[in-house]
Amino acid sequence: MNYLKIAAAGLLAGTMSFGAAQAQETVKIGLVIAMTGQQASTGKQLKAAVELYMKEHGDMVAGKKIEVILRDSASVPDNSKRLAQELIVNDKVSILAGFEVTPAAMVVAPLATEAKVVELVMAAGTSVITERSPYIARTSFTLPQSSVIIADYALKNNMKNIVTMVSDYAPGADAEKSFTGQLTAGGGKVIESIKIPLANPDFAPFLQRAADAKPDALFVFVPSGQGATFMKQFAERGLDKAGIKVIGPGDVTDDDLLPQMGDAVLGVVTAHMYSADHNSPMNKKYVEAFTKANNFRPNFMSVGGYDGMHLIYEALKKTGGKADGDSLIAAMKGMKWESPRGPISIDPETRDIIQNIYIRKVEKKNGQLYNVEFQTFNDVKDPGKIKK
Ligand code: PHB
Repeated sequence: MNYLKIAAAGLLAGTMSFGAAQAQETVKIGLVIAMTGQQASTGKQLKAAVELYMKEHGDMVAGKKIEVILRDSASVPDNSKRLAQELIVNDKVSILAGFEVTPAAMVVAPLATEAKVVELVMAAGTSVITERSPYIARTSFTLPQSSVIIADYALKNNMKNIVTMVSDYAPGADAEKSFTGQLTAGGGKVIESIKIPLANPDFAPFLQRAADAKPDALFVFVPSGQGATFMKQFAERGLDKAGIKVIGPGDVTDDDLLPQMGDAVLGVVTAHMYSADHNSPMNKKYVEAFTKANNFRPNFMSVGGYDGMHLIYEALKKTGGKADGDSLIAAMKGMKWESPRGPISIDPETRDIIQNIYIRKVEKKNGQLYNVEFQTFNDVKDPGKIKK
């Protein structure tokens, strides 16, 4: 936690005492994330992951000092835009990073293009985001990456009649469209598609509608932070007892909230790019260090932050410390590395992430709920772009 604050204080002192010479030796990253408001859990995860990466790798890269300037969007995309503008104009950042939701990533895109500054999307998941500026790269995920795979899983497991239930904004539309396309192409049917308001949703009336339709399964997308409320209301309405299965991208069984979801979540099958239970030496080390520093589990948003820092560090090494947008984005294209989630790379064509997608089932391990991975799809590109 202290790392970012110290970095910001150091920046101020440095600017005052050494002026322009010092500024040249510093690469500034504007981290625009929600520390308060509806997406605060994502900001908390990203901040912790950025701090862990810097604690492990230091703050000097290619002869440059890395300064992270954290700004709280308060979960309001207009704030993200204003803060990004200030960071470009006043702080002269080389990189804008973070962006807890799609609308925040989208409103910053024209600023990144105009200022020729890299915009590194660490959390948002709508497919089209990377097309909004040639300076955008993404270390999070896209909703179609997981939704297409869980559609195939549904078909193979005799779930033919599905109700979809998604948050009513861009990533929800992406999830629903890609899932429905794949399901219907394979002979399945969406018998009802339900949209839930993004802000403070009460799922109960929508769950009643879903139950009345008597589907084989309910395909759900809610953004990180809402899964526990959803699962609680799902169990309260008795949908688990009625034999309705929950499937979806893994946002609903977010590791951040999973430990408090209760046994109604047991058996939920999702497709996603990260589980705290991912079985690799690197992830074991990551989960241990992260949990020790923060007292909470890393979730799928955290790896977007951790890998985002890695991408910045490695790109700077490749450019020999040059941090202009053109050099940095060129260096990021095609970069490959091992993440706590498994092997990942940045697609040189689209600047989007290519990663493994895992099918997982919620199980208890040593009395704790985990998304236990049981099938892997290697090197999945964003299907949202492939189809265009
Ligand atoms: C998004 O707004 O793009 C978003 C937010 C949270 C998620 C997934 C997508 O869990």
